[in-house]
Amino acid sequence: MISVSNLYHSYSNDEKYAVKNVSFEIEEGEVFGFLGPSGAGKSTTQGILTGLLQLQKGVVTVAGYDVKHIKNEMFNKIGMSFEQSNVYSKMTGKENLEFYRKLFDVETRDPQELLELVGLGDKGNIKAGEYSKGMKHRLTFARSMINNPTLWFLDEPTTGLDPAIASEIKNIIKEKNKKGVTVFLTTHNMYIADELCDRVGFIVDGELLLIDSPKNLKLQYGEKFVEVEYLDGKEIRKESLSFVTKDDIERLKEILDQYEIQTMHTKEATLEEIFIKVTGRELV
Ligand SMILES: Nc1ncnc2c1ncn2[C@@H]1O[C@H](COP(=O)(O)OP(=O)(O)OP(=O)(O)O)[C@@H](O)[C@H]1O
Ligand SMILES: [Mg+2]
Repeated sequence: MISVSNLYHSYSNDEKYAVKNVSFEIEEGEVFGFLGPSGAGKSTTQGILTGLLQLQKGVVTVAGYDVKHIKNEMFNKIGMSFEQSNVYSKMTGKENLEFYRKLFDVETRDPQELLELVGLGDKGNIKAGEYSKGMKHRLTFARSMINNPTLWFLDEPTTGLDPAIASEIKNIIKEKNKKGVTVFLTTHNMYIADELCDRVGFIVDGELLLIDSPKNLKLQYGEKFVEVEYLDGKEIRKESLSFVTKDDIERLKEILDQYEIQTMHTKEATLEEIFIKVTGRELV
């Protein structure tokens, strides 16, 4: 569905690259997460893939189209939601969607239905300029679905949204994917990535360092821990012990023999911990 080979991008047209030799493939029906800290090159890559930025160097095909010579019909197939909500502030929410749907040559969805889907059902007649940041974000998200895209680009779809709405958005993404929509998701939120993505790519300073499924990453890099709380006299103590270190296993046996156990949980490494381990960088 997407194929990227040796992609480079420089905003200054010199050797300073915002995206450096990035290659990856995304299969049809996959949810692919592009993860990295601020300034890593995520939005730049999405910009090139969606024709917002001119392809400078590398070979990119999206939904069967060569991005070097973009054809308008490509836009009928893809949906895009950007991190900055670029809605028309003088138009109402509904007018924004009505305006946008006219740009497509394919069947489009009913604006009111989309507004309801993102919790803006009763706000359709208010000017988008009067919307809060989160509302604008939701309108942009709704707009990205108007042409029933088969390939959906989502840049930080839940950032800045309250947890209930963020959870709704996650469900919409899951539902769409179940119906076969391929998703290219950009985020710094590891929990969302973990929940939604079939595979993730770690990008830092413009370079794609690794691609794998969250499950494989946890198997490969995550060390499993057990957290045990036990009663030592009158005091409750807590220890975190590895499943694989010999000394820790011995210690765990000792605790089980000697103390009254209060709670015991296994803990997997989070994607965030793995990201830090692999890249040496935090995700902020
Ligand atoms: N329009 C621009 N002009 C010049 N430099 C830019 C422009 N847009 C981005 N950059 C630079 O390119 C690099 C990658 O930026 P990009 O927006 O792709 O990062 P990102 O991974 O999306 O970050 P964030 O998580 O903050 O959205 C950064 O160093 C940034 O300063
Ligand atoms: Mg970005």
